[in-house]
Amino acid sequence: MSAKPYDVVVFGATSFVGKLLCRYLASHSSVAGLTWAAAGRSLEKLEQMRSLEANASGVPLILADATDAPSLAAMCAHAGVVVSTVGPYALYGEQLVKACAELGTDYCDLTGEVQWIRRMLDRYEPTAKRTGARIVHCCGFDSVPSDLGVYFVQREAKQRYGLYCAHVKMRVKAIRGGASGGTIASLMNVAKEAAADPALRKELQNPYALCPKDRRPKTRQQSLNAPLFDHDFQSWLAPFIMAAINTRVVHRSNALLNYAYGEQFRYDEAMLAGKGLRGRLSAYAISGALGGFVGLTAIAPTRRFLQRFVLPAPGEGSSPESQAKGFYDLRFLGLLDDGRVIRARITGDADPGYGSTSKMLGQAAVCLARRDKREGGFWTPATLFGDTLIEALQKHAGLSFVLLDSPS
Ligand SMILES: NC(=O)c1ccc[n+]([C@@H]2O[C@H](COP(=O)([O-])OP(=O)(O)OC[C@H]3O[C@@H](n4cnc5c(N)ncnc54)[C@H](OP(=O)(O)O)[C@@H]3O)[C@@H](O)[C@H]2O)c1
Repeated sequence: MSAKPYDVVVFGATSFVGKLLCRYLASHSSVAGLTWAAAGRSLEKLEQMRSLEANASGVPLILADATDAPSLAAMCAHAGVVVSTVGPYALYGEQLVKACAELGTDYCDLTGEVQWIRRMLDRYEPTAKRTGARIVHCCGFDSVPSDLGVYFVQREAKQRYGLYCAHVKMRVKAIRGGASGGTIASLMNVAKEAAADPALRKELQNPYALCPKDRRPKTRQQSLNAPLFDHDFQSWLAPFIMAAINTRVVHRSNALLNYAYGEQFRYDEAMLAGKGLRGRLSAYAISGALGGFVGLTAIAPTRRFLQRFVLPAPGEGSSPESQAKGFYDLRFLGLLDDGRVIRARITGDADPGYGSTSKMLGQAAVCLARRDKREGGFWTPATLFGDTLIEALQKHAGLSFVLLDSPS
C-alpha cells in the first residue's frame, strides 16, 4: 500500500458515478484496510455527498479543480492512486493525467474517449514510464468486460490447446441500463471534435488507434456497423455503440503483450438481435436508430437541441430503481485457426454504465492500490490486472466469468 496519506483519492466524488463509487468504497468489505478520501472542486457539494452516504461520514475531503494545476499536484501528493470520474475527460482530464505522470502517482478512470486517450499517450507515456506512474484508462463498462473477456478466453485457449485464438467475437446477448448526463456530454464532445477535424475522423476509424504508432498490424478488422447474419451465433447482428472504444482497448492489450495473440488477431463486437424475420427487422431497427442518433450528433444545431431538451444533463442519471433492474449478459466465442472453439459468458448484476461501472472502477482502484509497483506507463485493465481483477470482480462486484463448453 501507499506511503502517502491516502491509498485512494476519488476525484469527482460529486459526479453521478463518483457518488456511487464513494458509496461502494464506504460500504464494501473488500475495501477494508484501505485509506481513502473524496475530492472535488466544491466543498459544499462534497459535504453534501458525505452527509448523504451513511458510511462515508468520516471520509476526509480534498479540494481540487481540474483547471488548477497546483491543486491537482497537492492532491496527487496525498494519493497512492487517484481515481477520476471528472468528465468529459477530453475537456477536464488532461491536467490530472499530466500531474499523475509527472509525480509518479497511479491513476485510473472511466473514459471511453479514444481521441483523448491517444492524445494522453502521445504527450505523457514517456513521462509515466520514467516516473513509474501506472495510468489505466477505461476501467468501467467500457472496456473492462471486453478486455478481460478476451483475456479470459485467450488464457483458456492457451491452457487447453497451447495456442491463442486467432479471432474472438463478443456478442451482447442482453443488456439493460441508461446513460447519465456525463456520458452524454462525453459522446457529444467526441462528435463535436470529430465534426471539426477530418484527420481525427480518420483516426477514430482506425481499429489500432491506441496501438503504438510504429507497430500497428495490417490485419483488416470487421467493424460490424451494419446488420449482418452471424452463423456462429445463429442470429442477426446489430451494431454495439461501445465497440468503438472496446475494440481499440483490446487491440492495445494485444500490442502491450507484444502481440502475443498474433498480429493477425481479429476482434469484433455486436448485439444479438435474434433469428428469422423478427431478428432481421430488429437488427435493422437498432442499426437505423443508432445511425440516426450518430447523424444528429454530428450536426451542431441538432446536437445542441438533443443536449438541451432531450438527453440528461451533466449530474443527472437513471433512478436507483432502474439501476437495480439493470444487468448485462455478454457472450464470447474464441476461434482457433484449426476450427476449435472456446465459448464464455460474462454477466454483470447491475446496470452496465452506473451500478456495475462504479463497482468495476472501485475494484480497479483497489487492485492498483494493493498491487506491487510494476513498470510505469499506460496500461489496459487486462494487461495490468488480469486474473487479479477477474477474481476481485467475481467476489466483490457482481460479475461472473464462465466457460460454456468443456475441452473437446
Ligand atoms: N466507461 C463507462 O462505462 C462510463 C460509465 C459512466 C460514466 N462514464 C464517464 O464518466 C464521467 C463521469 O460521468 P458522470 O455522469 O458521473 O458525470 P457528471 O455527473 O456530469 O459529473 C461530472 C463531474 O465533473 C466535475 N467537474 C467538472 N468540472 C470540474 C473541474 N473544473 N474541476 C473539478 N471537477 C469538475 C463535476 O463537479 P461538480 O459536481 O462540482 O459540478 C462532477 O463531479 C463521464 O466522462 C462519463 O462519460 C463512463
